[in-house]
Amino acid sequence: MDYRRFLNDIGMRRQSGSYLTGLLESVQDIPDMISLAGGLPNPSLFPILSGTFKLKDGEEVYLDESTMAEVQQYSSSQGYPPFRQWCERFIKSYHDPPCWENADESKTKIMVTSGAAQAYTKVLEMCVKEGDKVLVEIPTFSSAIDNLLTLGAEPLGVQGDAQGMIPGELRSVMSKWRPQDADDPHSDVPKLMYVIPSSNTPSGATLPLERKREIYEIAREYNLLIIEDDPYYFLQFGGRLEPSFLSIDTDGRVLRADSFSTCMTPGLRLGILSGPALLVSKVQSHVSFSQEHSNNLAQAVLHKIFEAWGEQGTKKRWREISAFYERQKNAMMSSAKRWLTGLAEFVEPQGGMFLWIRLTTIPDSRKLIEEKSLSHKIAMAPGCIFTPNRDDPSPYLRANYSTIPIGQIDVAMQRLAEMIKEKMASNPEAFRVSKF
Ligand SMILES: Cc1ncc(COP(=O)(O)O)c(C=O)c1O
Repeated sequence: MDYRRFLNDIGMRRQSGSYLTGLLESVQDIPDMISLAGGLPNPSLFPILSGTFKLKDGEEVYLDESTMAEVQQYSSSQGYPPFRQWCERFIKSYHDPPCWENADESKTKIMVTSGAAQAYTKVLEMCVKEGDKVLVEIPTFSSAIDNLLTLGAEPLGVQGDAQGMIPGELRSVMSKWRPQDADDPHSDVPKLMYVIPSSNTPSGATLPLERKREIYEIAREYNLLIIEDDPYYFLQFGGRLEPSFLSIDTDGRVLRADSFSTCMTPGLRLGILSGPALLVSKVQSHVSFSQEHSNNLAQAVLHKIFEAWGEQGTKKRWREISAFYERQKNAMMSSAKRWLTGLAEFVEPQGGMFLWIRLTTIPDSRKLIEEKSLSHKIAMAPGCIFTPNRDDPSPYLRANYSTIPIGQIDVAMQRLAEMIKEKMASNPEAFRVSKF
């Protein structure tokens, strides 16, 4: 594939690596070489000797003196090598991208990032030009919309439902353009799609494989790059992991952002970017100049934990995490049914941490929250922030169930119901006639 279509001027200018990095790499393994070319701090001055981390399950992971010395030094912007290799095996085992089969192994296809947010943001930064139309699902992650607006892009909404982005809606949005114009640099055919394939925040929808295939075919027709932001992959409910876009990527048009935030811990700030070597290496170069690399100590700790748990233990842990959130979801679903029937509708989330509630009697959830949230002591995110047209009123609310104790979920839904009823009582005529 020719990736020039997807890159903005900065993305085009970014080179992989620098002259100095190349020089240092070329001399580092030569016997008897005295290199005065680098600029590393002296490791004898690093303060930490070794460390033991006690895990809640009774395991202990130990970072010995040599590992600790290594992780306190600068290292590769692709990631701390042992962890990066683990990540590569992880991507191959879960997603096995078809286009990697005969690809040149020496080129970067994955890198460790400081979370999925860094990965997809850096991709947007190298691709988006002022005025570009970028396809997003309605609804989608509010920060992704923030990012796109900041970069001067126009988020172009494609309606989703309980199973995520609707392929027919995508086709209808794209029917405004002709596929043959996609590669004309002067046309305004969208070139990027940002999508959360599993347990979408805020809707909780997971795109089934058949829909992914249909969307992928449309992406091929119009030569779109798919940015797959998948931090909730392991939070899919019911023990099934729906195959990713990366796993059906025959062309090399998917850039995938994984996250260790919800399946491990967000504070370590770790994730993975995988996809076409040329594009990943440009992001790597950006990270190299702006940050050098993700935190080595965090990478080493996570790597040791995964080694201690082994493949089966890690899978078991991820199933337990998904089961935990599923119990939280079940509690919120049953309380929502108890208190909100007749006032709101909601579909069962297929994963993740949120219930997406549609108020059937109130057209503007933002007003409701701004007017009544404090007095009723119940806060939720208004739906409008998850759609491209943020100024339009939205009847949706996003309710998070990840951290609230189960005992409080029922109280929360009761308070929401009371808040809605009070608002309706203030102007009953308005609510009786409202249709949306
Ligand atoms: C859709 C989506 N992408 C990315 C992120 C951030 O992930 P990370 O912590 O890996 O940067 C979040 C977290 O809220 C999210 O909901």
